[in-house]
Amino acid sequence: MRGWFITFEGIEGSGKSSQISLLTDYLRSNHRAVTLTREPGGTPIGDQVRKILLDPGNKILDPSAELLLYAASRAQHLKEVIRPALQSGAIVLCDRFSDATLAYQGYGRGLDLAMIHALDRLVTAGMRPDLTIVLDVEAAVGLARARGRNNQQGLEAEARFENEALAFHERVRQGYLTLAREAPDRMKIVDAALPPLLVQEKIREIVDRCLI
Ligand code: TMP
Repeated sequence: MRGWFITFEGIEGSGKSSQISLLTDYLRSNHRAVTLTREPGGTPIGDQVRKILLDPGNKILDPSAELLLYAASRAQHLKEVIRPALQSGAIVLCDRFSDATLAYQGYGRGLDLAMIHALDRLVTAGMRPDLTIVLDVEAAVGLARARGRNNQQGLEAEARFENEALAFHERVRQGYLTLAREAPDRMKIVDAALPPLLVQEKIREIVDRCLI
């Protein structure tokens, strides 16, 4: 039995983490087996890679080195967590996956999209999410939320991307919207500027339809 692979995408401050956690509670209360995970990270090795990627001190990290580190984290994650969980029949809820690399390294940093696709095929062997929820919010709104959260929770150690210019996040947002237009069956856009409980309601409707 193969489970379901559901990924969540969106710019900084789009509310992914809290929405994923609400959805996990909902699915578990319906007796679904859920594996909750994230990228970069999700494994001990991936978490070490995550530290390098998100350290604001690593200002000189080369864009292609960055791309390869995301790919490395994903390869490990697929092997250790995602594939085994899907094989056991679980619903895998993953905070970011391949679309993030296209949006951030491709549309955001300007790396060649065809090259990113080729690398992704190597890493994933064509493994695609069954469903991807894109939480869409204006870049200025998302960034303001993310900076507030980092200051409150002392997450400055992970602030490398929040420190990017607004224009970078706007390109990432437009990248996600473009990807969603290209794959409308798989990628569903949800307006993340709505009140959080309403956002959750919309996510549950989409997920329930997918899991039927
Ligand atoms: P998070 O803050 O949602 O945990 O994500 C970590 C950061 O990593 C976020 O700024 C987006 C970035 N990222 C990429 O640039 N490329 C990727 O492939 C992934 C998975 C994340």
